[in-house]
Amino acid sequence: MNRVLSTASVAAFLLSATCVLSAEPKLSSRALMQSKIEHSREVLAGLCVEDFGRIAANARSLTQITEEQWIGVESEQYRMHLKNFRFATAELERLANEKNMDGASLAYLQMTMSCIDCHKHLRRREK
Ligand code: HEC
Repeated sequence: MNRVLSTASVAAFLLSATCVLSAEPKLSSRALMQSKIEHSREVLAGLCVEDFGRIAANARSLTQITEEQWIGVESEQYRMHLKNFRFATAELERLANEKNMDGASLAYLQMTMSCIDCHKHLRRREK
């Protein structure tokens, strides 16, 4: 009986461990990458048609993606890029809410540069 119980609890433990593991953020998951691209495209579209709600909502989603999913790469440089990115998306959201077209456009450019910079950094690390 004890043996059955302990087998069951080991199985339960393994199962929950697997659940925890699969709930871990997957940096390279296709869906995540696609959503970064999608949201930044939506921001650009919002800027083109001066739809501030669309800009703010997608900027917020981009900030949330970084908050929820981008852990695991631990280097000072990476954290700096991440900080720059979050600053830009937060600014983008704030300025869109203020209906500041020029400011939001600038924050969009800043954000885009930080996408490129972080990836440049990641590629260099691999070499
Ligand atoms: C702070 C760092 C950082 C920033 C900023 C960043 N990314 Fe990423 N990005 C990553 C990491 C980490 C990966 C995963 C790399 C991997 O899986 O090899 C990734 C992967 C990607 C990929 C998939 C590349 C592939 O291998 O297919 C795309 C596309 C992408 N990011 C788009 C963006 C876009 C668009 C932005 C800006 C809106 C952005 N990223 C900003 C860190 C960043």
